[in-house]
Amino acid sequence: MKVLVIGKPIKHSLSPLIHNFWMKKYNLDLTYSKMEVEESGLSSIIDDIRKKKIIGVNVTLPYKKKIIRFLDDVSQSVKDSGAVNTIFLKKGKVTGENTDGRGFVRSMEKDMQIKFKNKSVYIIGAGGASYGIITELIKKQVKVIDITNRTQKKTDDLIDYFKQTNVEFNNSTWPELKPKSHTDIIINTSSFGMKKGELLKINCSNLRSKTIFSDIIYNPKETETKKFLKEKGYKTINGLGMLIEQAAVSFNLWFNISLTEKDIKEVREICEASY
Ligand code: ATR
Repeated sequence: MKVLVIGKPIKHSLSPLIHNFWMKKYNLDLTYSKMEVEESGLSSIIDDIRKKKIIGVNVTLPYKKKIIRFLDDVSQSVKDSGAVNTIFLKKGKVTGENTDGRGFVRSMEKDMQIKFKNKSVYIIGAGGASYGIITELIKKQVKVIDITNRTQKKTDDLIDYFKQTNVEFNNSTWPELKPKSHTDIIINTSSFGMKKGELLKINCSNLRSKTIFSDIIYNPKETETKKFLKEKGYKTINGLGMLIEQAAVSFNLWFNISLTEKDIKEVREICEASY
């Protein structure tokens, strides 16, 4: 029996390392592998889950939204966020869940001691990961979300999607990124930064010294944008904590096993040493 992470590209993924470690530790006779798939291959993967050839799937970019139409059912987290990162068979139905936002929030609370209530957040990117994170930020009662994205239409769609909430949403400029003087946390939810030479043009002139930069990219460990802001004296964090925390939520959904802080710490050390 197997579990998969699918996406394109997928080479960089640390998810197999994480899940295989926990599966072995909890004596589950399973293997977790990565598979690069084309969009045309998504429906046959869903069929294999229906036939119980595959137990569970994690979905990464660029399919977090595109895969939804193949599913039988989705959880509230998917209804809220419009994106899926975890799939499994639940009561005979291939069901989608989203654990990204919960993973992000847990990592920021644990690793950076952040309390989100009434905070002002500046978000770069308007893809599936952004929707998942924003859904949880709204639950945590952030006050303001300023959002910027390369494709303006996707920023407009995102603001429209979340307009019924109590959070104030503002459209911010691209390609010059100018967080506000009220910005507490900047989050890069886009994939820009995974490749060498990709530096987000962040204008720091308004920023306060205590503003935190969070890049959800974990490979490379330090994007050029993270390096740039760290050198300017801002506190920064990469996406490894989020990856591990979202994996722990997925693991619990698949196997009904609540991982301990020790399980999480052990896997973090293994990941850190692996790249
Ligand atoms: P995911 O579902 O994992 O979030 P996605 O939906 O493909 O993946 O979203 C990727 C995000 O990264 C988008 O915000 C995308 O911007 P566009 O909406 O303009 O496509 C952003 N992104 C990807 N490549 C980028 C690049 N070279 N420059 C700027 N933004 C980029």
